[in-house]
Amino acid sequence: MDPKEVSKGMKVLNIGSMNLDYVYNVDHIIKPGETQATTGMNIFLGGKGMNQSIALAKAGAEVYHGGMIGKDGQPFIEACKEYGVNYDHIKKVEGKTGHTIIQIDKNAQNCILLFAGANDKLTEAYVDEVLENFEAGDILLLQNEVNMIPYIVDKAYEKGMQIALNPSPFNEKLDAVDMSKISYFLMNEVEGEQITGYTDPGQIIDKVVEIYPEAKIVLTLGGDGAIYADKDERYHQPIFKVKAVDTTAAGDTFTGYFLAGIIDGMKIPDILRMSAKASSIAVTREGAVPSIPYRKEVEEALA
Ligand code: RIB
Repeated sequence: MDPKEVSKGMKVLNIGSMNLDYVYNVDHIIKPGETQATTGMNIFLGGKGMNQSIALAKAGAEVYHGGMIGKDGQPFIEACKEYGVNYDHIKKVEGKTGHTIIQIDKNAQNCILLFAGANDKLTEAYVDEVLENFEAGDILLLQNEVNMIPYIVDKAYEKGMQIALNPSPFNEKLDAVDMSKISYFLMNEVEGEQITGYTDPGQIIDKVVEIYPEAKIVLTLGGDGAIYADKDERYHQPIFKVKAVDTTAAGDTFTGYFLAGIIDGMKIPDILRMSAKASSIAVTREGAVPSIPYRKEVEEALA
């Protein structure tokens, strides 16, 4: 599909990171002072931003990706072409594209070292220019792997866009964000604890709903599934059990599919089921971007 010919309707603008993921397979996550031989190495396309755009596109949404890459970032443009993500707003700048060093242990758990590179080169002028192409009702999706998040939130809110925030990785850069402007929070239990101070999922949800009563919240809980809550409704979705080989981008896949389901006007329990199935497929494959399934595969697996 040519991304320039995507259907008219509610658009998603995702201003987010693009990282080259240097992925090493290891016995265990390395300890301080240790040298460990790896059992495999691959370079995959990733970045929470790009992963979520690809998940949205593969789920059938009209998605526009914004953000910065360096001269070595052309593979991201090619991926957008391949998967149907509009790339008009991706800009090439001096310096290196963002990258990560990821260890995947024998239980498929990971740890990630992040070098922001071009992801941190957004400017007010760039953000203003991109937002000119979007209007009230469109969805803006953000994670916390690019700079300027507080500014982007303020400007998009002024325009009447619905803002979905995946506050990942959660750090002090988010302190300046006016969270009352967020329509959708999509987070895991670690981020939920960092935001509320609670570890119990029920308490995390209660607190977020109390502080942001107009928001819709998705809390992913790893092996315990996911919870959706707003001030009127609450649902729990268990995981689909699979043999995981790489959990990288499982949350990003969930996020992309969840928002695609919202755009399609699906019922929340059906959206959660579809998103959980998509994530369960993603974890059976290596890499971030290459692991994300198409909607057809997800629907066939659900049937
Ligand atoms: O969520 C997974 C992603 O986090 C990886 O693709 C890596 O790039 C980091 O941003």
